[in-house]
Amino acid sequence: MADLSTVFTGIRFDNPFLLASAPPTESDANIMRAFDAGWGGVVCKTIGLHPVTNVKGPKTKFLRADNGQTRLSMNRRPDTTLMASWNWELISDKPLDWWIGKLAKIKKAYPNKVLVASIMAGSGNDKELHNWQLLTKAMQDEGCDAVELNFSCPHMDRVDMGSNVGKDKVLCSVVTQAVKEVARIPVWVKLTPATANIVVEAEACFRGGADAVSSTNTFPSLPLIDPETLEFEMNVEGQVSPGGLGGPAILPLSLAKMAQLTKAFPDKEFSGIGGISTFDHALSYFLLGCGTAQVCTAAMLDHAVGPNVIRELLAGMTAFLEKNASRGWKSLADFRGLRRERIVPHSQIKRPDQAGYHGGYEEEHEGYAKPEAPLASTERR
Ligand SMILES: Cc1cc2nc3c(=O)[nH]c(=O)nc-3n(C[C@H](O)[C@H](O)[C@H](O)COP(=O)(O)O)c2cc1C
Repeated sequence: MADLSTVFTGIRFDNPFLLASAPPTESDANIMRAFDAGWGGVVCKTIGLHPVTNVKGPKTKFLRADNGQTRLSMNRRPDTTLMASWNWELISDKPLDWWIGKLAKIKKAYPNKVLVASIMAGSGNDKELHNWQLLTKAMQDEGCDAVELNFSCPHMDRVDMGSNVGKDKVLCSVVTQAVKEVARIPVWVKLTPATANIVVEAEACFRGGADAVSSTNTFPSLPLIDPETLEFEMNVEGQVSPGGLGGPAILPLSLAKMAQLTKAFPDKEFSGIGGISTFDHALSYFLLGCGTAQVCTAAMLDHAVGPNVIRELLAGMTAFLEKNASRGWKSLADFRGLRRERIVPHSQIKRPDQAGYHGGYEEEHEGYAKPEAPLASTERR
């Protein structure tokens, strides 16, 4: 039998797959269903101290492409393929008191499953730093295995919260440090992809004492405009504001962020998120060096907590280990990070010698016209 178990930030997981902080983990009922379905862990929907009220109407919609066609739309219709989720949901709209007691009960019922509490407070003054500490203590008193600091929500209604913390390396460091002062459990930090160089913010978090970085949250984006009504496909009384893109469309984008992180900090721990719905997707994150993988959009569309998604992830990893048993691979540790060093600066990618230079037209590669005549070497840049 393949061994899917792993240890991440000192915590033992029976498998490396978690539900990300989002609607699939917004309640105790969901979380327990997720554990029954086989998820190794969950990161609960972000818990804050300040009550939030979501916008009127739907908080999430799904962008789909007509099969074999060019139309992209959030309007539900048959014969489509999922491209992305788009949401402008805030953190949990349930107060801290609602969660207290429930998390403890979940942990007691599922002692071998990993319960990570996502938390968020403000920043910029001692009172807010104290709020981070208060939330951390509350979560560890409930028996949570780790906390994940949400420095990444792209659409908070307060400027001192979410990705606005993740965009400021000083705040990243100061908040992480404040949490570490009181934390007896591992501290993960979830960063926003919406910065120029995510390595800078990760470095600040590690300096503050973070045990792991989770990446990515959703990417800032807008819904499309309906060509018939000329309205945004998601709006409230005609108005829209930027929300977050998740799902298949962000897989290559999130991988690029993760590659930056694992290359800059090869000895640190990372949880990969963004566009995962199958083991093949998660494998890319593992081969870059991630120790766990988190899923949101795919699970939302599979009975809200992803029973079929986790079944495929477990079967896919089992089959992968069996297929590679002859290489001596017995667990994730044996193949984690194997492709990290393949990512190099563009200047280091091999060029053909002058005689063999055909400008990439050796075969008919997609997307380029056939050159009328080969370029003379003096015409090349
Ligand atoms: C509706 C919705 C709500 C979300 N809420 C949270 C949240 O409360 N806290 C958080 O850290 N991330 C939140 N996320 C981000 C997800 O955890 C995840 O990082 C992102 O969706 C990318 O993963 P995916 O491509 O598997 O969806 C939310 C995402 C969606 C779609």
